[in-house]
Amino acid sequence: MAVLVTGGAGYIGSHMVWALLEAGEEVVVLDRLSTGFEWAVAPEARLFVGDVGDTGLVSSLIANHAVDAIVHFAGSVVVPESIADPLLYYDNNTARSRTLIETAVRNGVRNFVFSSSAAVYGSVGAEPVQESHPCNPDSPYGMSKLMTETILQDAALAHDFRYAALRYFNVAGADPEGRTGQSTKGATHLIKVACEAALGKRGHIEVFGTDYDTPDGTCIRDYIHVTDLVKAHLHALESLRRTGESLVANCGYGRGYSVLEVLDCVKRVTGRTLDVRYAARREGDAEAVVANSDRARGILGWRPEHANLDRIVASAFSWEEDLLRRNSPKASA
Ligand code: UFG
Repeated sequence: MAVLVTGGAGYIGSHMVWALLEAGEEVVVLDRLSTGFEWAVAPEARLFVGDVGDTGLVSSLIANHAVDAIVHFAGSVVVPESIADPLLYYDNNTARSRTLIETAVRNGVRNFVFSSSAAVYGSVGAEPVQESHPCNPDSPYGMSKLMTETILQDAALAHDFRYAALRYFNVAGADPEGRTGQSTKGATHLIKVACEAALGKRGHIEVFGTDYDTPDGTCIRDYIHVTDLVKAHLHALESLRRTGESLVANCGYGRGYSVLEVLDCVKRVTGRTLDVRYAARREGDAEAVVANSDRARGILGWRPEHANLDRIVASAFSWEEDLLRRNSPKASA
């Protein structure tokens, strides 16, 4: 039996591959390498380069490797990009996921773990949000994820098929052992961008909006360490196999930090200076999003081990330094 990880050459997927291998699973990775990297895939996993919408390829992987579960990370993740190019997001995130789900159902794969997002809620205020909260996405990105959740829900009602939709809050940090990290080129996520700026890979960092109704006027997010996030996936997979019950669960710590608090943390933890510039609001940004993760803790028995912003930033920065070394002319000589 094997687990098929789509997007396993990407940021979160590559961490998941290591975690699955450590848990003794056989892992097959499907990634078209549009944003992921071949070198990011753990050597013990089999990488196939291709698209999740390629029914023939996915069917043959399922059959040849006795796949009993799919963990689906492949997708586009940048909120502003989804506003500029919504059709790309509805294609990559919704249409191709629908095809993948159909391929899973037709080939008898009963367990499906899906990368959903806190973006399905839209702006909900500083109070931790529960899964039962109404979903009103502020962006096509959030809507593309919500549509896929709906497809999963209906497929699970109609077929011998169950799913876990994990709603990620703001994922950051890197593998504490330094095996993988966030390597995406042209990344836009706050902690990644701030670490790049701290290292001098970019000149300055912009704060998008200082007039929000929050204590310091900047947006509040619940930052979760990628290692804790992938652990929630392991629990979700175990729960699906054992109970056969579908589940939607938030993955966050229940503690929000403003953009300025994050930047202060980056300066403190790295000992570097940052050239911070104040800019206008970024379209599609929710004011505050913080998780209530009682369900993941209660039903899945999830116990985060890295719920500390300093540690998240330290691991992200350390990975950024590593990338700099890998890309330096000396390293490639
Ligand atoms: N930000 C800046 N400057 C930057 C980058 C980001 O001020 O250079 C701000 C953003 O405006 C926002 C906050 O930092 O207020 C976090 O932005 P990110 O781009 O890091 O992340 P998002 O909140 O836009 O989106 C992420 C994930 C989604 C997830 C969402 C949930 O990409 O999948 O968090 O809150 F749904």
